[in-house]
Amino acid sequence: MSAQIDRRHWLKFSSLAALGLGFRLPAFRDEAILPAEYAGVTGLVNLSSNENPYGISPKAREAIVQMLGESHRYSYNHPGLQDFKKQLAEHHGVSEDHILVTAGSGDALGLLPRFFNKGKLVTANPTFPILPTTAAKLGTKVVEVPLNSKMEHDLDAMLKAVDDETALVYICNPANPSTTIVDPNALKNFCIEASKKAHVLIDEAYIDYLEPQEQVSMISLIEKHPKVMVLGTFSKIHAMAGLRIGWLIATPDIIAKLQADYFSRAGFTLSVLSMYAALASLDDHAWHNQSRQKNTAARDYTIKALQSLNYQPAQSKTNFIFFPLGNYPGDYAQDMLKKNIFLRSYQYPYGKYARVSLGTMDEMKIFMGEMKARI
Ligand SMILES: Cc1ncc(COP(=O)(O)O)c(C=O)c1O
Repeated sequence: MSAQIDRRHWLKFSSLAALGLGFRLPAFRDEAILPAEYAGVTGLVNLSSNENPYGISPKAREAIVQMLGESHRYSYNHPGLQDFKKQLAEHHGVSEDHILVTAGSGDALGLLPRFFNKGKLVTANPTFPILPTTAAKLGTKVVEVPLNSKMEHDLDAMLKAVDDETALVYICNPANPSTTIVDPNALKNFCIEASKKAHVLIDEAYIDYLEPQEQVSMISLIEKHPKVMVLGTFSKIHAMAGLRIGWLIATPDIIAKLQADYFSRAGFTLSVLSMYAALASLDDHAWHNQSRQKNTAARDYTIKALQSLNYQPAQSKTNFIFFPLGNYPGDYAQDMLKKNIFLRSYQYPYGKYARVSLGTMDEMKIFMGEMKARI
């Protein structure tokens, strides 16, 4: 099939885009939301939203239970939460004035394009859509640079696209939906060069799924390169997607402006239960390591099993996989949902692709059972 043909199409698409003849890809779609009739269906395997199937740390669970009786209070009335920002900042090696805490990092992705709205946005295509979609809705020109044929960010092409009219550059590393990473030194150089002209946001939502020695955050660049910003979340390795805490690290100047313009309510949007759980989870490395190891095992199994069926997933560094569906005739996500497996598929100009979150090993075996049955 299939993957070869898709790759050719991808290359053709990339060269058209390089000539300015690219296609605009579809934005965020409601397919991410589980149809109401499936809510509570027994045996539904939910592989749709890149959540962590192993749940929150037992320490975070215990923290929530302890805090329940105090949940009638605002967070600023809790002595244990008053230095929440300080502890989070220290964890990331910066001072408190470098950090803005939001109700999930998606909150910041919706608000940053409102703040950096005086020029173009440069981003990859495909990428995580909240920020580019919001920018486009606000009338900002969005310059979309195709991924390369390995489904990695094409940093050279992105750098060429950044000019004096660029206000913001958005890079998701590791990337969603494409699962790949870029070389950390290449990314550092990119940030240094691009930030001479524009603000650069690196979304590191999935960084904790990399092996510890591979986890190179761009936070350390901020001191010398003040237009670099880094986004993170408790929704992935911390398994707190439903508890809603994310953060942005940037210079105190940017943070103060964001806080004043858009986020003065931030102190009110966070729940005491989430904050307490986040603090308890921060240093529970043993729990996170377990999640990462189980994720790697489920990923190795699924990738090998898909390859044995002639699919060619991208080299995933995340808790999800992304692969071309070749000449799949119908709507893959809809067809899988009928089999009680909830995942995503996309129709790009160069072909159809699937994005499958990694569930537990048992869930991935159910998924592969269904894939084999389709042959
Ligand atoms: C790359 C990326 N950034 C940010 C988010 C938003 O996550 P949250 O709002 O839960 O922090 C997601 C969610 O899947 C994501 O994939």
